[in-house]
Amino acid sequence: MNGAIFYSGQYGSTEQYAKWISEATGLPIFNIKDTNADPSKYEFLILGSSIIYFRLTINKWTKANLDKLEGRSKVLFSVSGAGASAKLNRWVAASLPSGLLSQMEHVPLHGKLDHSKVSWWIRIILWIGSLFNPDPQSRKEERGGFDYMDKASIEPIIKMIQQIESTQATT
Ligand SMILES: Cc1cc2nc3c(=O)[nH]c(=O)nc-3n(C[C@H](O)[C@H](O)[C@H](O)COP(=O)(O)O)c2cc1C
Repeated sequence: MNGAIFYSGQYGSTEQYAKWISEATGLPIFNIKDTNADPSKYEFLILGSSIIYFRLTINKWTKANLDKLEGRSKVLFSVSGAGASAKLNRWVAASLPSGLLSQMEHVPLHGKLDHSKVSWWIRIILWIGSLFNPDPQSRKEERGGFDYMDKASIEPIIKMIQQIESTQATT
């Protein structure tokens, strides 16, 4: 039974989670920008994506590869500033082709924002956005950054992968 991790991120946190999952399971990892990233070669897929401006950054890739994603077991992990919440679920649902989310298990993971890694105009945009953010904690995080990276939070994903592998080994 073979599976692989396909991820999309910009500043390293989604890649870090993908690497931790790969270390724990032995699954290969592909950045979706990699031209060798072909999901049709694998029987099950772990998709990882950051959230930028209320959307999964993997969204265009899922649309372009929809025929290769259908019919395969899938786990999606999102990486965001927002924690697990109804608004995060809405952003994820709005990012994916209709029907795809219902074929996936979604695990929300909490990421990292290091202002020294983003460009000066992104910092300005984040600061302006913070002026309209009604939540004082997330307003502070937009302005100053945050680090919620947590290796232990991949545990549910590892269990799902083991479950897929054991189910498929017996069929
Ligand atoms: C320009 C920008 C926009 C972002 N927009 C959101 C957002 O809409 N919702 C959210 O929860 N987090 C948002 N974040 C936080 C990212 O999801 C978080 O930093 C994540 O860890 C980035 O993943 P990456 O390091 O793999 O790129 C944003 C971060 C940046 C830099």
